[in-house]
Amino acid sequence: MHAHRTPGDRTPAHRTRARPARPHHLGPGPRTPDVLVVGGGLIGLVTAWRAAQRGLRVAVADPAPGGGAARVAAGMLAAVTELHYGEETLLALNLASARRYPAFTAELEEASGQDTGYRACGTLAVALDADDRAHLRELHALQQRCGLESQWLTGRECRRLEPMLAPGVRGGLHALGDHQTDPRRLARALLVACEREGVAFHRSEAVRLLLTGDRATGALLADGTRLAADRTVLAAGSLSGRLAGLPEDVVPPVRPVKGQVLRLRVPEAYTAAGGPFLSRTVRAVVRGGHVYLVPRENGELVVGATTEELGWDTTVTAGGVYELLRDAHELVPGITELPLVETLAGLRPGSPDNAPLLGPTALPGLYAATGHHRNGVLLTPVTGDVMAEVLTTGRLPEEAHPFSPRRFTTPVLQEQPA
Ligand code: GLY
Repeated sequence: MHAHRTPGDRTPAHRTRARPARPHHLGPGPRTPDVLVVGGGLIGLVTAWRAAQRGLRVAVADPAPGGGAARVAAGMLAAVTELHYGEETLLALNLASARRYPAFTAELEEASGQDTGYRACGTLAVALDADDRAHLRELHALQQRCGLESQWLTGRECRRLEPMLAPGVRGGLHALGDHQTDPRRLARALLVACEREGVAFHRSEAVRLLLTGDRATGALLADGTRLAADRTVLAAGSLSGRLAGLPEDVVPPVRPVKGQVLRLRVPEAYTAAGGPFLSRTVRAVVRGGHVYLVPRENGELVVGATTEELGWDTTVTAGGVYELLRDAHELVPGITELPLVETLAGLRPGSPDNAPLLGPTALPGLYAATGHHRNGVLLTPVTGDVMAEVLTTGRLPEEAHPFSPRRFTTPVLQEQPA
């Protein structure tokens, strides 16, 4: 990729590209951004970073950039183990993003000087009883039909990989390519990379879309700032549909899907003495609910997550904590010894087909990068690339065509009977 550069040239490749011509209707003004990103979570930040790398002037509006769902998410990159029937189109995007993670991580860590906690550790999905086993067998068959790599293991083989697993584990699927990253560190790194790339941060909420004729032209912020921009990107996760002034037919159909998550700590002495508590992500479906344990190299063990359709509620409930601990304990009994250091609930941006909305909306000047539901962390690299491309060139990359926001607004023509 860098073959044309001399060995001593440390200028990033994107710096060599010319800044795109400034659109006429914006008028002069060095502070007017080309792109306003509404929302500074992982998706907003990666969009801002990648667009700024391509030479666009970018602003982000968010009262607390780097927060949102990234504070709660476990950071599994689970394209294979979270495969669902009917989501084969989404799978292609998930896999494309998973493939980009190593290079994306390396580039971001160099750009920010921050570690992101990416860990190529694989995932073990296990079954605790005959029903779970049947479910996993089905998943395995689906994975094979989709050409995905996963290996069926007996209970004994699972425990050989992860000695802390319950003795009753009946078998499992080893997905060697489902890794993890640390969403909090990832958000911090993106924030620094954005700042270094010249992205302007407005620590205030965007409350109303600005319209000039039939074109989106920025947003009014809660602090009274009118932030004009040629292109406005809705990237506010589950809040993306709440921006006032959005014409009805472009309101993104995202809804909040609550997830409660626990954080435990594996004491250092534990890891030093007897090997790691867990070496990879371990997950199961217990009584129909997904439970996963994501062990970080720094000793954090994330246990997630509930899936609750409760609107904007982010209460951590006794029932939620109980169910997570009960199911995690059935999987790995030794967790009851560990300190419980944090409980938190966040909101996934659910969409009607569980897939993201990426690219131009039906309103000129308005773009969406939202609705990532269970895959926001996984889809961060590909979202950044797709959004930067469409914001810079006006062309939505082919891999994102199935995820156009217009799929929810353009009426589908009914076939007339002959
Ligand atoms: N992808 C994990 C979750 O949404 O809980």
